[in-house]
Amino acid sequence: MDFDEVVRTTFTCREFTGESIPEKDLEKLLEQARFAPSGGNRQGWHVIAVRDPKLRQQFSKWIRPTFQLYLAQQQAGESPWNSIIPTRVTAEEAKKIDFSFPLLDSIETVPVILVVALDLSLVASFDKDHERVGVISGASIYPFVWNLLLAARNSGYGGALTTFLVAGESEVQEALNLPSHFSIAAMVPLGRPKKQLTKLKRKPVAEFATWDTLDGTPIGKLES
Ligand SMILES: Cc1cc2nc3c(=O)[nH]c(=O)nc-3n(C[C@H](O)[C@H](O)[C@H](O)COP(=O)(O)O)c2cc1C
Repeated sequence: MDFDEVVRTTFTCREFTGESIPEKDLEKLLEQARFAPSGGNRQGWHVIAVRDPKLRQQFSKWIRPTFQLYLAQQQAGESPWNSIIPTRVTAEEAKKIDFSFPLLDSIETVPVILVVALDLSLVASFDKDHERVGVISGASIYPFVWNLLLAARNSGYGGALTTFLVAGESEVQEALNLPSHFSIAAMVPLGRPKKQLTKLKRKPVAEFATWDTLDGTPIGKLES
């Protein structure tokens, strides 16, 4: 596939056919992903492919309350889990949210479930002393995850960058023999997509890129 097609059609795939991924294919995806950049080229990632169906179901259980709160905030018109505007949703309201989410409901059937951990002892977290929430550390791991998803798309597979497993971080660390300085950056399901989406909803360039200042001329408009 050409780059333009890969980048425009790598959607968030959460439902898969029953086809498994041969280990050599999985290795190839990781082989391509590993060329991602990281701060100081420290490559603090570790990937664990979790096969145990019971542990996967446990992941779902750890995720559910956090996802309920996410959905409740969404229903209340909030931007879920943002660190700037406090939520008006209570824990009791969130607990009442009933939902079905195939990825969580049948997690044991997903061809591959990867847990992507990040060794924080290797990460240059340049904003660690800021009062706002940290954003820099993620830049040493998510390019790797995104490379993996682009590689998957290019090979006819699909997957999703999910982060909600962090809700059970200490339990996950214990189950996977990860020391506490390995943060849970993502849980990535992979497989053959049940359906391939090709039209992703994204803002046009002029809505998010400007010359010189936030309210400057949108990029693409000066010469048009
Ligand atoms: C940082 C990040 C965290 C995400 N966390 C989750 C998650 O926890 N669960 C999930 O189902 N999807 C998660 N997603 C997927 C987003 O919901 C998805 O990228 C977005 O809705 C766009 O979907 P599309 O790529 O199919 O257009 C996450 C995506 C990113 C980039």
